[in-house]
Amino acid sequence: MKVPFYRHSVGEEEIRAVVEVLRSPFLTTAEKNEEFETLLADYLGVRYALTTSSCTSALHLALLALGIGEGDEVVVPALTFMATANVVIHAGATPIFVDVEGETGLMDLNHLEDIVRKRRPRAVIPVHIYGQMVDMEVLMELSEKYGFHIIEDAAHSLESTRKGIRPGQLSRFACFSFYATKNITSGEGGAIAFNDPAYYERLKRLRLHGMSLSAKERHGRFVKYDMPEPGWKYNMTNFQAAMLIPQLKRIEEMRDRRAAIVRRYRRAFGSISFPRIIDEEGTRSAHHLTGILVEDRERIALEITRRGVGISAHYPTPVPLLSWYRKTFGFQRGMFPRAEHIADRIITLPLYPSLTDGEQDYVIETVKEVLGMM
Ligand SMILES: Cc1ncc(COP(=O)(O)O)c(C=O)c1O
Repeated sequence: MKVPFYRHSVGEEEIRAVVEVLRSPFLTTAEKNEEFETLLADYLGVRYALTTSSCTSALHLALLALGIGEGDEVVVPALTFMATANVVIHAGATPIFVDVEGETGLMDLNHLEDIVRKRRPRAVIPVHIYGQMVDMEVLMELSEKYGFHIIEDAAHSLESTRKGIRPGQLSRFACFSFYATKNITSGEGGAIAFNDPAYYERLKRLRLHGMSLSAKERHGRFVKYDMPEPGWKYNMTNFQAAMLIPQLKRIEEMRDRRAAIVRRYRRAFGSISFPRIIDEEGTRSAHHLTGILVEDRERIALEITRRGVGISAHYPTPVPLLSWYRKTFGFQRGMFPRAEHIADRIITLPLYPSLTDGEQDYVIETVKEVLGMM
């Protein structure tokens, strides 16, 4: 049997929605983006959402909107996807890496306080890794005490809550990904969610060259546009937004299905070590990724793959230990011990709504067999 690491859930409804847009005049950013943005903001319980070309571009826009650039420092966790830190570099600022909690992989807020007390960074980017959220109440207290902005990297956590709070509700900005393997997807895509109306017009301009009027706004009339400041090309197409709308309607059902698979894996794997799932009132994971922690990971991963089970590692190397960051900033092994512990051991397993019971059985059997548990 072969079980892929990921299989998307794009079905007939999404195909119909895309085809409908392809038959209409507007392929670039237009009415489907607006419709999805309204639905997304409602779902998250925030005032605004704007679609972007990716989560990376959304994070970059958030830094630009806050005026973060040369001479500024921004704190990011050591265990994340490289984009979280790269956007700080793109903005001209310097990333400061903080270690994560050994049990959950989330940014360690005690370690963070030591850093922000000394360095007074302009912003902190918490990553809600695997689908669990950093405690935003505690982080907000720190942000008020030490005067930094919070930009949430919510690429994994569209459906998450922690103590009843969702991404984007307390922070300046929360950024989401609709990349090919995300919980809802448009192949590539992203969004930025926020509450402060002061950012709305500027972010809309910055995502489209800095133009004062979009193609949709100019359509059907002759009108001159201006460019108050140069922006980027970070908008999402109309047909990508169209395919996200039906997926957003099914989002809870798809999350519940992944949650059931995670429960099954955990029951079946017994003594195998996992990143911990937080059990707090009002708290739930989006269950974007599920992983096991094993010794001798390279050999185990090879054996599992050889038996036809698609696996991955999130993430195989802490970002500061990637070669460019090592070379540029002099980071070395031993500086982020808990991020390194997870990165050295994690194997992420197939987790998606269409994973059949038979496929789950095969994943479980294969992992147990390779680990010598059968
Ligand atoms: C934690 C995290 N941040 C940012 C990104 C970047 O998302 P995108 O590919 O939409 O730019 C990803 C994508 O995998 C991610 O996992």
